[in-house]
Amino acid sequence: MGKTGFLLPLLVVVLLPTFEATLSADSPTNITTDQLALLALKSHVTHDPRNLLATNWSTTTSVCNWIGVTCGSIHHRVTALNFSGMGLTGTIQPHLGNLSFLAWLKIRYNNFHGPLPVDLANLRRLKYLNFGNNSFSGEIPLWFGSFTKLQTLLLYENNFTGVIPSTLQNLSKLETLGNNTLGYAKFVKMLASILLL
Ligand SMILES: *[C@@H]1O[C@H](CO)[C@@H](O)[C@H](O)[C@H]1NC(C)=O
Ligand SMILES: *[C@@H]1O[C@H](CO)[C@@H](O)[C@H](O)[C@H]1NC(C)=O
Ligand SMILES: *[C@@H]1O[C@H](CO)[C@@H](O)[C@H](O)[C@H]1NC(C)=O
Ligand SMILES: *[C@@H]1O[C@H](CO)[C@@H](O)[C@H](O)[C@H]1NC(C)=O
Ligand SMILES: *[C@@H]1O[C@H](CO)[C@@H](O)[C@H](O)[C@H]1NC(C)=O
Ligand SMILES: *[C@@H]1O[C@H](CO)[C@@H](O)[C@H](O)[C@H]1NC(C)=O
Repeated sequence: MGKTGFLLPLLVVVLLPTFEATLSADSPTNITTDQLALLALKSHVTHDPRNLLATNWSTTTSVCNWIGVTCGSIHHRVTALNFSGMGLTGTIQPHLGNLSFLAWLKIRYNNFHGPLPVDLANLRRLKYLNFGNNSFSGEIPLWFGSFTKLQTLLLYENNFTGVIPSTLQNLSKLETLGNNTLGYAKFVKMLASILLL
């Protein structure tokens, strides 16, 4: 009893900041947030040749049943998106940054264009990111450096400009930053620029 009385305040002091951090990062979002984020994406898809989103992404069923969407079994939140080869044309909306449990984002072989919104920097659980073979433009964002769990980053066949930001050097888990990241010739040029920083 005496020992517990001593430990409790200590535990509160140690646990409180962690709890608060978790609260501010995660508590305002739920599966409804995920649905809004995906509907925002859908509404900015201007071409969907197989009508996949139009027919399948219906609000009468859970987003977890939507084509290309996977939810986690613990939190029942969206953990993976796979739009590989769906032939979609559109832009990426800031709302996508609200998918706070997203670990896997694969949208290769589509025609998404425009710059990437900074709100995506909130996707702190991302481990896999494949934007390959789209028409994204603008600089490769510095804030890719906030994806501390990132293991794979694929940006090949896009219209990005500039250099690979030096912030990527801090991503200790990053394994696939190679030929495939940007395409070989561009990669060699950009690697040179990283080494010179
Ligand atoms: C999600 O949170 C909002 C408020 O932030 C609430 O109105 C809504 O009912 C919640 N949805 C679910 C499915 O829990
Ligand atoms: C959407 O596609 C998924 C996966 O192919 C399928 O399981 C589901 O039944 C479809 N839903 C609708 C409403 O068509
Ligand atoms: C992603 O989608 C593509 C095309 O629908 C499919 O071939 C592939 O198996 C999917 N990958 C995963 C990991 O679900
Ligand atoms: C989601 O993201 C958008 C843009 O980043 C923001 O305006 C919105 O308030 C966010 N929250 C929810 C719960 O949708
Ligand atoms: C990129 O995707 C297009 C279709 O969107 C395809 O025709 C082309 O072969 C792909 N390029 C590569 C290098 O895979
Ligand atoms: C991307 O760059 C290529 C040339 O490298 C150009 O032909 C194409 O029109 C550009 N696409 C966009 C969407 O800017």
